Amino acid sequence: MTDMARVFAVLVAYVAVIYGLTANAVADDMEARVASSRVVVMELAKNLKGYLKAALDSPISIEEKLLICKAGAPEATSQVIEESGFDIGRTSLRVRNRNNAPDGWERAVLKRFQARKDAGEKISDLEHAEIINLGERRLFRYMKAIPVGEVCLTCHGTALNRDIVVALDKLYPEDMARGFEIGEIRGAFTVIQGIN
Ligand code: HEC
Repeated sequence: MTDMARVFAVLVAYVAVIYGLTANAVADDMEARVASSRVVVMELAKNLKGYLKAALDSPISIEEKLLICKAGAPEATSQVIEESGFDIGRTSLRVRNRNNAPDGWERAVLKRFQARKDAGEKISDLEHAEIINLGERRLFRYMKAIPVGEVCLTCHGTALNRDIVVALDKLYPEDMARGFEIGEIRGAFTVIQGIN
């Protein structure tokens, strides 16, 4: 081997090692971000369930129950945002509160979740993570699908009680989150972590 070829071979090996390390570090970083996103999603789900249970268990009118959800959902969400430093929320292709409407990226992921479900995947397995470049900034984004369960039908189902319809029409005139059935995708949790 000539000196030149030797230098070149060493250089190639060196670059391969650095590249390998970097690729590993990126994969590790991605995994850590997915793991921490799962934790905050669980935390938010737990907080929201607390508000929902309080509303459903109280001997109050359905409108008052809905008002607890209306105030409780953003309250539970900002608590978790404050504790974690991540931006987190819930979204759906059919929202009740337009503040929860998906942005373009979220809409595309929600549509892919629906296609994956239609192709036979379990809703509990539907999650997606990606690094997004936004000009100078890089963001880690994560979404996890939310299934419709039995308890959700009272306020999101097909055969809604008349009082609920009246209260929903009053509080959410643009409501699109009715007519769901058990086993459908209700929406998704969505997390953003700033990288730089
Ligand atoms: C007591 C009625 C009630 C029940 C039961 C209920 N929700 Fe909701 N849900 C609401 C209200 C009200 C909102 C709008 C909250 C707001 O203004 O931010 C909402 C909003 C949501 C959102 C946010 C997206 C959007 O449409 O604005 C998701 C996701 C959601 N609900 C899922 C569920 C799931 C899953 C269940 C069952 C585990 C459930 N809900 C049970 C009343 C209810």
